[in-house]
Amino acid sequence: MTSIIDDLTGIVSGAFEDCGYDRDLGAVSVSDRLDLCQFQCNGAFSGAKQYKKAPFMIADEVVQKISKNEIFKSVEMVKPGFINITLKDEVLLKKAKEIAGDINLGIPQAEKSETIVLDYGGPNVAKPLHIGHLRSAIIGESLKRIARAMGNKVISDVHLGDWGLQIGLVIAELSERNPDWVCFSSDFDPDKDKVNPIDVDELNEIYPFASQKSKSDEAFKEKARAVTAELQSGHKGYIAVWKEIMRVSVRDLKENYKRLYVDFDLWYGESDANEYVDELIEILNKKGLMYESDGAMVVDVEEETDKAPIPPVIVKKSDNSNIYATTDLATIIQREKDFSPDRIWYVVDKRQGLHLTQVFRCARKAGIVPDSTELAHLAIGTMNGKDGKPYKTRDGGVMRLSDLINTVVEAAYEKMSDENFDTKEEKRDAAQKVAVAAVKFGDLSNHIQKDYIFDIDKFLSFEGKTGTYLIYTVTRINSILRNLGVNNDGQVLFSGIYSDIERELLLNIILSGEAFKHALSERAPSVICDNAYRLASLFSTFYHDNHIMGETDKNKQSGWISLCILVRKLLIRHLDVLGIKAVERM
Ligand code: ARG
Repeated sequence: MTSIIDDLTGIVSGAFEDCGYDRDLGAVSVSDRLDLCQFQCNGAFSGAKQYKKAPFMIADEVVQKISKNEIFKSVEMVKPGFINITLKDEVLLKKAKEIAGDINLGIPQAEKSETIVLDYGGPNVAKPLHIGHLRSAIIGESLKRIARAMGNKVISDVHLGDWGLQIGLVIAELSERNPDWVCFSSDFDPDKDKVNPIDVDELNEIYPFASQKSKSDEAFKEKARAVTAELQSGHKGYIAVWKEIMRVSVRDLKENYKRLYVDFDLWYGESDANEYVDELIEILNKKGLMYESDGAMVVDVEEETDKAPIPPVIVKKSDNSNIYATTDLATIIQREKDFSPDRIWYVVDKRQGLHLTQVFRCARKAGIVPDSTELAHLAIGTMNGKDGKPYKTRDGGVMRLSDLINTVVEAAYEKMSDENFDTKEEKRDAAQKVAVAAVKFGDLSNHIQKDYIFDIDKFLSFEGKTGTYLIYTVTRINSILRNLGVNNDGQVLFSGIYSDIERELLLNIILSGEAFKHALSERAPSVICDNAYRLASLFSTFYHDNHIMGETDKNKQSGWISLCILVRKLLIRHLDVLGIKAVERM
């Protein structure tokens, strides 16, 4: 289906053209003065310069052309040259009905579906998933769902940090603790020998320990470096322990992501790019881009217009080990081969801006993706505690994601009253969903680049712009429909508009597709949050002002019920692209 904005733009553009002006002047947008009109076109102002004519004269001619069109309740020129448009109620109702019957609920579909590789999450194997990876997961998951809802093909890749020094540290420490393990003996044979199992709790404990140790123990640090380089060159024993570390760690990660309704199509890691490293180096060599500097191989990536110096990117270290930039570059080769994407988006902490700038520039110079492929760092801000500093546990440590989720689930559980639930399990299930809604909406309602303060009490409030309020609104609609014995999926039938608030609500329903459009073009899930909140608040006012249950005029009542059904569906759709699940009651 077409959007109302497209319909109106078509009509007004046609009128500009009929009057001898450029069609493109006819773009219609939502009015920024809803008290005056619903839509507006400001094209006459640009036309005035082009045609050396007063804007009001142009606007007047255009209005004359369309004033007879029966969809308008009013269309008028307002000096100095605005075109103000208000639609007849029946047009709003017809469009709302169309939306209710559309499988995409009026969400505009891409004319040409794009392939987008979305790199988000980026947890590091062998380190517990911590809240630093939370934002990336929440935002990436939402962008994936928004882009898909609009008809694009999105491939999500967790891009595990599974190949760096942290693995070397863990393996080095394991070898000191367990020198007798067969994988550490020189005659280890992966086809015959069994690898000793690793326990997830030990894995969680071992990395911080080894990392600390490497700070004071130079020899250990060297050993970890050597292990990393040997692992990357295919040392059989180390590969075997590494596989065991991966098995345990990935299982744990998957469980955590699942609790957040975050999932990935690809569970690739930096290690999967290893087989493309030779090709990368060959390309860089052939193009003469790589040279030696301080024992490392580097590529210049600075540009004349740089305001701050951008250092060369290091692609090989002196011990021949690959580093972060190498794997990111090799991964681009891999992604290009596998998917030839139109875009590769990295939902990564803004503090990694320099790294990704270097990687993207090097990729362009090397020509490993076509010029038309977008490489974008969707930089994300920091989640802070109430003290305005990066969120920490009480004792100042890095909080594990599972602990954070547990805390919020507990708080949500405490907040809801038992009587709304038949069983404890039902309440538990609702608490889990409310907690995710609270955390995710608290995050996504901020622009992705902005730092924000993590405030559980605020996020769990039933009032104000929170995920809790939104799913609470859905449960209120559920209860109305339940009490009236109406199917959630019932027919949508409108007979008229009976109050201003209904008109405003309908207008917002009709314009929801625009929110999706903006959310994707600006890569901003916050636009979806704003729209969902607007719908929910308008619905609350509508519900407060009208007594749906007791209404005796059956036409009116069925129109209002239709509004409930449609708002509910739309809210759930908004929540779905935010990665939030609604609940039946709370
Ligand atoms: N593993 C990295 C870290 O924890 C994040 C990875 C981000 N993605 C990427 N393609 N570089 O810092």
